[in-house]
Amino acid sequence: RLKRARERGLSAELSINQRCVVIMFLLTVLFAEHTALKKTPLFDFHRGQGGKMVEFAGWSMPVQYKDSHIASHMHTREHCSIFDVSHMLQTNIHGKDGVKFMESLVVADIAELKDNQGTLTLFTNEKGGIIDDLIVTKTDQGYLYVVSNAGCADKDSVHMKARLAEFKYAGSDVDLEFLDCALIAVQGPTMSQVLQAGLKEDLSKLTFMTSALATVFGVPDCRLTRCGYTGEDGVEISVPESRVVELTEKLLTNSEVKLAGLGARDSLRLEAGLCLYGNDIDETTTPVEATLVWTIGKRRRQAKDFPGADIIIPQIKAKTARKRVGLVSTGPPVRQHTPILSPDGKVIGEVTSGCPSPCLKKNIAMGYVDAAFAKNGTAIQVEVRKKAVPATVSKMPFVPTKYYTG
Ligand SMILES: *[C@@H]1O[C@H](CO)[C@@H](O)[C@H](O)[C@H]1NC(C)=O
Repeated sequence: RLKRARERGLSAELSINQRCVVIMFLLTVLFAEHTALKKTPLFDFHRGQGGKMVEFAGWSMPVQYKDSHIASHMHTREHCSIFDVSHMLQTNIHGKDGVKFMESLVVADIAELKDNQGTLTLFTNEKGGIIDDLIVTKTDQGYLYVVSNAGCADKDSVHMKARLAEFKYAGSDVDLEFLDCALIAVQGPTMSQVLQAGLKEDLSKLTFMTSALATVFGVPDCRLTRCGYTGEDGVEISVPESRVVELTEKLLTNSEVKLAGLGARDSLRLEAGLCLYGNDIDETTTPVEATLVWTIGKRRRQAKDFPGADIIIPQIKAKTARKRVGLVSTGPPVRQHTPILSPDGKVIGEVTSGCPSPCLKKNIAMGYVDAAFAKNGTAIQVEVRKKAVPATVSKMPFVPTKYYTG
């Protein structure tokens, strides 16, 4: 009887253990589902090239390759780098009411864009905050091509779909197509020489913020847009997923070209004075505070017909209590959330992005300060490791941009 009781006990124990195993297994599966990072079509290629992968906006992306971040940054300024930006959201907007649809969401004058011309613009909310920054190109194929941030992809698609439903309900002719193309940015002073070798079109005709369809190094159905996020001349190439490794390999056969990761991308864009959504602009900042008033179309300003216009337009005249500025300093590095102080030590703002500038060999940063301190050349301080360090308000870009305007 004792033996049987022991056996029964043992089997009860086992079944508890088994239950635990099952629960652990289910938890593992659930956890993996929630933490699985998305991969671009270049993921395996990056790893093969020594890419050090990090999490960025839910994606596994290379932060750098074999070269140091600084070497990669300087290579982009002096030669040419390829960045995988396939994590960004690419959307085509079709239909004859596409322009009206887009203008109901953004501050730009989309109607006045010439064929194949693009513009930087902002999705704004009813409170005047910035939902995302994006580039809209009016293609000569009759649709708009839109590129917006990876970190905002979910809310951007929800936002566009909600407006689409309203437009459809009103009988408008508009449709959204979310693209599964890859996207690579080819940036640097020798980009045009590198790319021209694989193009039959004359690249000198493609000026800053214009776009064209082309076959690139034998890969058809690519969309080239002359733009970027480094301050250098460059293009972004939207390319069918199945051919992006081949195109990247072909570009890399030119000794001018190297791969660059998120580390270099961030210091390059900061030297160029460009905002990073989530750091320097977000739903609590308005285009006026962010000194992005230039993105608001003249006609849109007069018509006051974009989301948040009731708040944003009066701010243009009245000025705002705070303003986005550039800062330079020497000494310890200045990073996001570093407090900005007046000369007499009062907190007047906070840094939103900062890094040591590889080109200038001093600290550069951007942040928001009380408007009284926003003028170029104003002496202020930044609080680094509990110590006040002198800094100066600076015009941006910190490093002159070299966009190809023809
Ligand atoms: C900004 O201020 C600095 C002094 O800190 C001055 O050297 C520079 O010329 C000014 N730049 C502009 C564009 O006003």
